[in-house]
Amino acid sequence: MDIFISSAFGYSQKKKEKEMKISAAVVAAAFSLAFSFILVNFTGQCDAALQQGFYKGKCNSQDVEAIVASVVKRRFNDKPRVAAGLIRLFFHDCFVNGCDASILLDGDSSEKTAPPNLSVSGYDVIDEAKGLLEEACAGVVSCADIIAIAARDAVQLSGGGRYEVQTGRRDGSVSLASNVDLPSPRFSVSQSADAFAKKGIGLTDMVLLLGGHTIGFTNCSLFRDRLYNFDNTGKPDPTMDPLLVMKLRLICPRNSPADRTPVSLDQNLASTFIVDNSFYKQIRLGRGILQIDQALALDPLTNNTVASLANGNDFLARFGQAMVKLGAVDVLTDSQGEIRESCHLKNKPRSTLLFG
Ligand code: HEM
Repeated sequence: MDIFISSAFGYSQKKKEKEMKISAAVVAAAFSLAFSFILVNFTGQCDAALQQGFYKGKCNSQDVEAIVASVVKRRFNDKPRVAAGLIRLFFHDCFVNGCDASILLDGDSSEKTAPPNLSVSGYDVIDEAKGLLEEACAGVVSCADIIAIAARDAVQLSGGGRYEVQTGRRDGSVSLASNVDLPSPRFSVSQSADAFAKKGIGLTDMVLLLGGHTIGFTNCSLFRDRLYNFDNTGKPDPTMDPLLVMKLRLICPRNSPADRTPVSLDQNLASTFIVDNSFYKQIRLGRGILQIDQALALDPLTNNTVASLANGNDFLARFGQAMVKLGAVDVLTDSQGEIRESCHLKNKPRSTLLFG
């Protein structure tokens, strides 16, 4: 009996020990899993940072940035207007859902279909670069990075100097017109500052980035009110140079459908295609076309920055740095997102290939 009891006790003791060992092992495994999860996330955060030259050695000894540059340069030589389109494309991508190429996705109600994006151009340039890159190294280079590299090349080709672009972005899969919350050209400086602050971009960088309006065009529909009926006063915007009002009234009659006539955002017409600080000089003279551009020169929040950019010689270097900051807004990196096969479509789910 004793023997039985002791052996029964011995049995249950062993069982308990075994159970304890198992639960200890489970706890240890859980800890190690949690630790490695934290580690992966931590190192993920480190790896997650964008970096210069991310694609070096990753594309079958091909130079990814040179491939994009060759396409942008050829298109630019053919039509310099391409540059403004690419810079604006970059802004419109980064400001909505982060720089994840969501603006490139097709769909009945994707971002492209939202009113502010209807006049965005440069999609075909990105497609051409993506085609060459897929031939060079399939599935390696994200569409989001192609946009960022192409925008940098556009700045450089337009005389804006070269800044080093950071890469390592991955592509997103959500693209909804209803997410397009870009600032309006009729915003005040503080409304615009709020919109930029939501993206982690401060006031000075906002002023620098609006310097993107040093090249490119708009059309009458976006500023006609400033010529005829500003703020429902029945009069032109008093902050616009009266000579410019007269000139623009000829291009933009009060009731004319001729809204497609391009009007330079930088009214130093010798510099319409050149990235330089003349935009700031023009807005200081009351020659801003968009209401927000003119407001930058007048609002006490931004007028000093505008004056220093107009009078100094550091705009190009600072604009490049601001573009790098814009390019880091809400990026997907590391194992997030995907590298799209086509910039127009998200990839097909892989599970059907594995289990189907
Ligand atoms: C408050 C912020 C901004 C507003 C309200 C704004 C608004 C506009 C508007 C209304 C146009 C004319 C579009 C058309 O005529 O269809 C335009 C053009 C342009 N924008 Fe902006 N923009 C802003 C910020 C930026 C930024 C940050 C950049 C680049 C860094 C940028 C680059 C451009 C360029 C290059 C064009 C000319 C595009 C072309 O000619 O194809 N904009 N913007």
